[in-house]
Amino acid sequence: MANSNIQPHRPVCPKPFFFCLTFLVLLVIPYLFFWVDSGIQVVSHVLPKKKIVSVIANLNTPSRNHEGESTLFKESTFLHQHAPAEEEFTQCNPSNALLKVFMYDLPPEFHFGILGWNGDGKSVWPNIRAEVPHYPGGLNLQHSIDYWLTLDLLSSRFSDRSAPCSAVRVEDSREADVVFVPFFSSLSCNRHSKVNPPETVSTNELLQKKLVEFLTSQREWKRSGGRDHIIMAHHPNSMLDARMNLSPCMFILSDFGRYFPHVANVEKDIIAPYKHLIKTFVNDSFGFDDRSILLYFQGGIHRKNGGSIRKQLFNLLKGEKSVHFAFGSLRENGTDEASRGMHSSKFCLNIAGDTPSSNRLFDAIASHCVPVIISDDIELPYEDVLDYSKFCIFVRKFDAIKKGFLMTLIRSVSREDWTQMWQRLKEVEGYFEFQYPSKKDDAVQMVWQAVARRVPAIQLKVHRSSRFSRFDVST
Ligand SMILES: *[C@@H]1O[C@H](CO)[C@@H](O)[C@H](O)[C@H]1NC(C)=O
Ligand SMILES: *[C@@H]1O[C@H](CO)[C@@H](O)[C@H](O)[C@H]1NC(C)=O
Repeated sequence: MANSNIQPHRPVCPKPFFFCLTFLVLLVIPYLFFWVDSGIQVVSHVLPKKKIVSVIANLNTPSRNHEGESTLFKESTFLHQHAPAEEEFTQCNPSNALLKVFMYDLPPEFHFGILGWNGDGKSVWPNIRAEVPHYPGGLNLQHSIDYWLTLDLLSSRFSDRSAPCSAVRVEDSREADVVFVPFFSSLSCNRHSKVNPPETVSTNELLQKKLVEFLTSQREWKRSGGRDHIIMAHHPNSMLDARMNLSPCMFILSDFGRYFPHVANVEKDIIAPYKHLIKTFVNDSFGFDDRSILLYFQGGIHRKNGGSIRKQLFNLLKGEKSVHFAFGSLRENGTDEASRGMHSSKFCLNIAGDTPSSNRLFDAIASHCVPVIISDDIELPYEDVLDYSKFCIFVRKFDAIKKGFLMTLIRSVSREDWTQMWQRLKEVEGYFEFQYPSKKDDAVQMVWQAVARRVPAIQLKVHRSSRFSRFDVST
């Protein structure tokens, strides 16, 4: 894990040459002298902290990490101005938190109530120290990020918390970097979309309507126009009725396939992983020669928009040796079967379905089966800090449907290259793991870190929009 391949994508010398040169000389001289252990501290007397942080990142210095673990968490914190010292991660201290989050106390019908938790009629939140409401298994689980983020926030101030805390809940919204809206919208979409006569609208639609009314009347909303609000809408059809009204917010999504670009886009919103459904390959020593299937695909064929490419690929690949290409969902044949298949495969196909993303990618990562991604419009979680080309193969749709292209490409990957990608998959798999309690650099922490990296951009928007608000008498 120590040899992380993650690097910030900024150029080393963005400014004119002379500026750069002076800057580097200033930095490099003390740096060379004191690199061994106290380099960073010494340099910090010479230059302002934020500059050092970016230059150190640019010079691609290995970050010191006592446990030899991934450097990703530290690199991410470098990008944030409140970067706390290492020992402070063990306890959640709001004044040092990466992200301070205010959470609305929405009534249970918006969150744990959908899971059947009733509470005692008095409290809004379950006492998760005593019992954590159960999330059902099955396909709903893939969009369960709402549940994991909310649990993490609820537990963020526990004094005996062992999990790291990228995000800490604060009671006063004026102290917060962002405002979290704890609506389990994917679950609401899965469970409450049916209209039950005599009602004329579904509970899902009703909840969204209530939510918009609630939010737009809050002083937190009025202060920012919603720009610092976080709305989870991971299921592609969730928030269908409210998304236009809530478009200034930061959405947490699986992809942008069903959004207008002005409502959601990669600059404003966050892409989060699906929770994988098949088993993590624990202690995987199943290398190149042990995996007998060269290329694996299992998925639905009857897709609204993406079906045609799946059919074309099926026709191209059906005669190929050591290719498993089968239609049928996980539900039909069980996750055990798919787990066995993916754990025994070198490459796993991810073809755009009815939306650009699918949880197949995250199943492949958990299986350490090198993903072959055929989805021109896919957006990937935390891609600002994670280089997917180190462990995925991307193929343009245009190329993939050429006869022979895909198989030639895959057969040309050497055992050494494959093994490198396989090793990298084992290093990164934790970034895609949702769990409670959350662990260091798992999906929960990674998503919070991704949100934290957006805070300066949000603040810019909020400040610009409030230029005239203080002494405005026209309204
Ligand atoms: C994985 O390996 C560790 C350490 O060798 C062992 O303790 C653990 O039981 C193994 N887990 C599985 C599922 O094999
Ligand atoms: C389901 O599993 C059976 C038994 O392993 C297998 O023969 C069949 O092809 C699988 N079906 C699909 C759709 O993959």
